[in-house]
Amino acid sequence: MRDKQPRHFNISELNEYDGKEGRPAYIAYKGKVYDVSDSKFWKNGVHSGLHSAGIDLTESIVNAPHNEEMLKRFRIVGELSEKDMSRKKLVNRLERMHLHPILVHFPIAYSITIPLLSFIYLFSHKAAFEIASYFMLTLGLLTGPISAVSGFFSWKVKFEGRLTKTFVMKIRYSIIFTVIIATCFAWRTLNPELLLTRTTLSYIYLILEISLIPLIMILGHYGGKIVYS
Ligand code: HEM
Ligand code: HEM
Repeated sequence: MRDKQPRHFNISELNEYDGKEGRPAYIAYKGKVYDVSDSKFWKNGVHSGLHSAGIDLTESIVNAPHNEEMLKRFRIVGELSEKDMSRKKLVNRLERMHLHPILVHFPIAYSITIPLLSFIYLFSHKAAFEIASYFMLTLGLLTGPISAVSGFFSWKVKFEGRLTKTFVMKIRYSIIFTVIIATCFAWRTLNPELLLTRTTLSYIYLILEISLIPLIMILGHYGGKIVYS
């Protein structure tokens, strides 16, 4: 007699059906596991050079040029296990809060105001601007890495952590950005007179602050590429 009970897959079992080396290609979507082995669009378990078989792609569909209707043609071979489903639901709920697009606005705003206030200080000689710039620097240092971590989370959830050129650039520039803003913060904290003295070091410090603007723009540019293309 045929077993009518759906097969339950946990994540590591699903991972085995990656479509490579003759293995079947299974993908999970909203708790159901589909067999896409026969599709020419899933050859060797790779789809559009972006997605892999053997994983839960529920969140990834938002980036697809098609909707979930495509899946209807394929056989359902089982379901994701309850435990994995509730973990996934929690992660997805977090992801749906869109933390990354919310948080990125903070380092973007601070990166522009930090050098701007320093500049105003150099021309106006009013110490309040230099102190305000230092406050912005502190906030930029706090919010920059938090934004980067939220982006990392989105990448893992929606793009299965696939290291495309765009994400290599985002990770690389996030690290450079964090190193530069942390250097400016440490330098200014250890030497509060840094800008006041107007020596060569003051101008090197200012150049470092100004470099935050192109860096944050590059990060935004690659972010826009992910969202709008
Ligand atoms: C950026 C991401 C994606 C791109 C660019 C993409 C692109 C495509 C294209 C061009 C097709 C062929 C359309 C056609 O036959 O009219 C297709 C089919 C399909 N896609 Fe995607 N897709 C993406 C993400 C996904 C995801 C996340 C899933 C699964 C949840 C998925 C599942 C499918 C399925 C099942 C088919 C049908 C294959 C067939 O008919 O043989 N796709 N996709
Ligand atoms: C401080 C560093 C970062 C900044 C300033 C930044 C900036 C941005 C911006 C402006 C967007 C477009 C948002 C929109 O238009 O809705 C974006 C999107 C995105 N970024 Fe970043 N990004 C940073 C780091 C990262 C990192 C390290 C990753 C992952 C490795 C990442 C992954 C993403 C993803 C996946 C999106 C698409 C939106 C989403 O799914 O949440 N970002 N980013």
